[in-house]
Amino acid sequence: MECAIREATSEDCECLMSLIKEIADYHHLGGEVTINSEVLKADGFGKNPFYKCILAERPMRNGCQQAHVIGHALFFFGYSVNHGRIVYLENLYVVSEFRGKGIGRQLLSKVAEMALDAGCVEMKFVTMEWNARAKAFYTRLGAHDTTESEQWHCMELGREGLERLAQSKKSP
Ligand SMILES: CC(C)(COP(=O)(O)OP(=O)(O)OC[C@H]1O[C@@H](n2cnc3c(N)ncnc32)[C@H](O)[C@@H]1OP(=O)(O)O)[C@@H](O)C(=O)NCCC(=O)NCCS
Repeated sequence: MECAIREATSEDCECLMSLIKEIADYHHLGGEVTINSEVLKADGFGKNPFYKCILAERPMRNGCQQAHVIGHALFFFGYSVNHGRIVYLENLYVVSEFRGKGIGRQLLSKVAEMALDAGCVEMKFVTMEWNARAKAFYTRLGAHDTTESEQWHCMELGREGLERLAQSKKSP
């Protein structure tokens, strides 16, 4: 399907925020989104960007004033002690009516290209147990499930846990 793949700019943050809310709703996690477009702008387009973002856009057509964003991939670079530079895919989303038309592959292909250009040797991401569609998509693109093969578990420490931990070094 005809669509342009481009890097997001700070001007895209309102639109990106809408897509992030859509994917959170898709995962039944809408209530957990605490950021807003201003945070996205500061964190992605300031002096030390914390993430990068690629957008899929339907081109302008006769009678249509604006190009229309139909998907995004948000990612950041990290490090593996086993393999070196890696890319972590945080968010991949294609608006429902445009799924199954090759847009997800185009977005991820661009992320892969940028990751390789940056010297990365691996892409990491998680998907939910029930999201068979996403798992089939990632498998089709060559990924393998490390929870199945190596029993890795995703763990996290929330803000309060972080603060407690930071404080705990001060107590005997
Ligand atoms: C997952 C998602 C990003 C895939 O994007 P998409 O544009 O629908 O996928 P594409 O059309 O680019 O498919 C790419 C390849 O995966 C295959 N594929 C896609 N969905 C598939 C499915 N459900 N079962 C099997 N194969 C599938 C396609 O056949 C295609 O293979 P091909 O290029 O060899 O023909 C999209 O469905 C989506 O946004 N889902 C909701 C949000 C989500 O789950 N995001 C991922 C969170 S972890």
